[in-house]
This record gives sequence, C-alpha cells and structure tokens, in this order.
Amino acid sequence: MKPPARAVAPLTVAVTGGRGFLGAAVVDRLLARGHVVLALDVVPGDGLVVDVRDEPELRRIFAAEGVRRVVHAAAVVGVPAVREHLSDATDINVLGSLAVLGASASTSVDRVVDLSSEEIYGDGGSAALLPEDTFTRPLTAYGVHKLAVELLAREFAETLSYAATRLSWVYGRGFPRARPPQSWLDDAREGRPSAPAAGADHVVDLIHVDDAVSALVALVEAPRLEHSAYNVGSGDGVRLAEVADLIRSLSPGWAMQQAPGRLPGVPMRPPLDTTRIREELGWIPDLSLEEGLRRTLHGR
Ligand SMILES: NC(=O)c1ccc[n+]([C@@H]2O[C@H](COP(=O)([O-])OP(=O)(O)OC[C@H]3O[C@@H](n4cnc5c(N)ncnc54)[C@H](O)[C@@H]3O)[C@@H](O)[C@H]2O)c1
Repeated sequence: MKPPARAVAPLTVAVTGGRGFLGAAVVDRLLARGHVVLALDVVPGDGLVVDVRDEPELRRIFAAEGVRRVVHAAAVVGVPAVREHLSDATDINVLGSLAVLGASASTSVDRVVDLSSEEIYGDGGSAALLPEDTFTRPLTAYGVHKLAVELLAREFAETLSYAATRLSWVYGRGFPRARPPQSWLDDAREGRPSAPAAGADHVVDLIHVDDAVSALVALVEAPRLEHSAYNVGSGDGVRLAEVADLIRSLSPGWAMQQAPGRLPGVPMRPPLDTTRIREELGWIPDLSLEEGLRRTLHGR
C-alpha cells in the first residue's frame, strides 16, 4: 500500500513481541514513518525486556512514555507450539493479552492493534471467501486463544479502541517456523533439494510480511476505526503445488517431490475476504505471490 500523501502526526507506539518476526518488522516500519517506538519482548535486544503478563510493569511503561497505540504481537505462536506447551501458552496468549489490554485501558493508550489469526474460523465451512462476520469455530487451542482475546477485549470497549487483525499465512525472510513455503525457499536459496512434502492440493491464503505490516501500520495510524476486527490476507487461495511451481520457476535448480492431497491435520479454509480493510483504509497488498516469493528468495 502506498503511504498516505498527508503526513501522519508522530505517535508513540509500543510493540509487544517487538523482537519477533512480525513485531520487529512493524517496529522498523513505524520508525521509518517517523513514529516513536518501544519494542517490548522477553528476548533482549533493542527495546525493553518485559513479560506481557506483568501488567504493573506494562502500566508503568505506557504511562511513563505516554504510549498512544499498542501493537500486540507477543505470543506463543502456531498450532503445534501451543499444543505442546498448552498451559504456559494459555497463560501468555490469554492472560498476557488481558494484561496488555488492562494496562492500555488504564493509561494513555487509546488503541490496541492485536495480532489475531484466521485460525478463529476453523475450517471456514463451504463459503467461497471468509468475511469477518463468518461464524467463528476455532478447531485448535491456538485459535481458541485468539478468539478468547477478541471476546475479552469487549470488556474494555468503553475506554479502549481495539482492532483484531485476523492474519492468514504470513511468509517472508526470517519466518521462524516450519511451514510451507518457508523451508522450500530456504532450501532453494541454499541450493539444496527439499524433503518430499505432502499437501500439493492444500489451498492457502498467503500474505507477504511486508504487506501484512502495511495493514498493521494502517490500523495504527488511522484516526478512527469503524470495526473491531479486520481480515488481513491476499484474498486469494493458492494450491501448494502452484506455490512449488512458482519457486521452481524462480529457482530452476530446486527440487522437491510433492504428494497429492491436503496437509494432514491442518484445516483447509477458503481465502479471507479483505473488503473491509480495503474499503475502510484503502489497504491492498502490493506484492503478487511471485514477487513476494522472489523477494523472500533474494533475502528481503
Ligand atoms: N506469522 C504468521 O503467519 C501469523 C499468522 C497469524 C497470526 N500471527 C500472530 O502474529 C503475532 C506474531 O507472530 P510472529 O510470527 O511474529 O511470531 P514470533 O514467534 O516471531 O514472535 C513472537 C514474539 O513474542 C515474544 N514473546 C513470547 N512470549 C512473550 C511474553 N510472555 N512476553 C513478551 N514477549 C513474548 C517472543 O519472544 C517473540 O519475539 C502472534 O500473535 C501470532 O499469533 C502470526
């Protein structure tokens, strides 16, 4: 998305999970757009070390720094990781999010942009596209966490604007988990073949991290928001076989054998309907899938 022609007044923004894949990219983009940014994470580095479950510390930081907007990206991420560490993950993802909302509602923060997930839609049923008012029926604990936070945020509605971003499959350089197409792109870049993979016919909605970040920044900068949830995806479904073919065309030496069928144990849902964020904020993805894959292969 092109940045708005009018300059946006600088905001002080806290980004939880600011050392992670999406959080760090949001921090960089917000800084490049002239905002004052605090990265909060349990991983030390640029920014402050703070656990999102520590509500008094969050409140102290938000008040002391005059934080106006919070991007909440800290989480135990992904279906397998949440399943493996269910108790701790529930603590961080649900109670940690509640602490972020509580600290925000009691200080100068006027909006939380929360990174939710399309997991809340479960398998999405038989619709061609999933709009935000689709019936939510998460099939995994990770999806339950995300939906629980969206519902809990209603408790703060009188004092706090809240926007859940229901992200589809984000990809891009540095994606930290084993999920197609990331390992294929890493292998192709390193000039090695990939292990045989299942799921040639599995359809996914892929969004490049740079486009996801543009949507998040648009939700931070908007003077006001009409809704409390926004789908963020490409709006197009693509078979993993087509993704592999595109990578082969971009990196002709790369080899990978793909078995037909769906990915085992992974719900296959229709692509996200992104009409709401397109119409309200003018956000559209900049990158075609081919361009996003090329960018990821070449290290951006
Ligand atoms: N990447 C995707 O495809 C995708 C899709 C949908 C939603 N999301 C959501 O986006 C957000 C960010 O995901 P990501 O892909 O950047 O993951 P990530 O694992 O790279 O980032 C998460 C960050 O949160 C931090 N963190 C974990 N527990 C913490 C705690 N208790 N206190 C403070 N920080 C803590 C981690 O150290 C890490 O830096 C998550 O909410 C995730 O559920 C991601």
